[in-house]
Amino acid sequence: MNHVFFIGAGPGDPQMLTLQGAEALECAETVFLPLPYDQTFASRLQGKQVLIPFDYDFAELLELIEKQLETANVAFLIPGDLTFYSPFQGIIDYFAERAEVIAGVGVANAASAKLKRTLDLPSVCNRALILSPKTLGDGEGSPQIEDFAAPGASLLIYMNNMPLADLAAKLRRGYGKDVPIALLHRLDLPDEVILVATLDTIVAACDGFDYFYLDDPTKKPALTFLIVGETLNAEVDGEWWDYRRKTMWKQRKEVEGR
Ligand SMILES: C[S@@+](CC[C@H](N)C(=O)[O-])C[C@H]1O[C@@H](n2cnc3c(N)ncnc32)[C@H](O)[C@@H]1O
Repeated sequence: MNHVFFIGAGPGDPQMLTLQGAEALECAETVFLPLPYDQTFASRLQGKQVLIPFDYDFAELLELIEKQLETANVAFLIPGDLTFYSPFQGIIDYFAERAEVIAGVGVANAASAKLKRTLDLPSVCNRALILSPKTLGDGEGSPQIEDFAAPGASLLIYMNNMPLADLAAKLRRGYGKDVPIALLHRLDLPDEVILVATLDTIVAACDGFDYFYLDDPTKKPALTFLIVGETLNAEVDGEWWDYRRKTMWKQRKEVEGR
């Protein structure tokens, strides 16, 4: 039986593909992908039919995949991976046992690595929240982004749809103070930009450039991700490590008889 592979492709650099993902991509004859994966994955797409899923209505897309499956495997390259903000659930459900999902490097994982920061830190940050102002909605009673901003919370913000100055002001209200913010634009793509500033300085750091393409008539997706919170610049010494060793790791070593 041929399969439809939903491959977590990472933020855009094929180096982020897992070994399992690379194997699935290799054995597919048709590959659905969003731009700019056609360019960054070009060497792995040679000889394959490359299509953009958003060019088709849902029923049309299912029919097309069914047709391809009669003779070969099909693959989708998913930005990041399926875990968050991925539009492919309906297709996965339709193909049921013929669908295989392959985990990948999410944008949050790649951003954490790039910044060399873990997104929670004992006694600094005790939660990390994944959200998007776009999916929170703007209807009456919709939660507001500032409702989630509070000391001790790291916010991982996808698909921002409001002017950065407004977003920073809302977050400032929620945190009640100035906290660090990192803006990662086209992460792991050739024209990557990374800005690390604070809520009070991020707008100036952008130097007039709109990293969210809010007024762009082409509606091209702005590949821009934000991380906000004290964890971005907190200093970490060895105190927590030694506490954990004393209260937990040492006993574990004894129990394991090492
Ligand atoms: C539809 S979501 C995809 C999230 C993805 N499924 C994941 O697991 O990371 C698209 C949003 O992810 C972020 N994003 C995707 N690719 C990115 C990249 N290369 N650099 C920065 N942000 C990116 C942006 O916030 C963008 O608006």
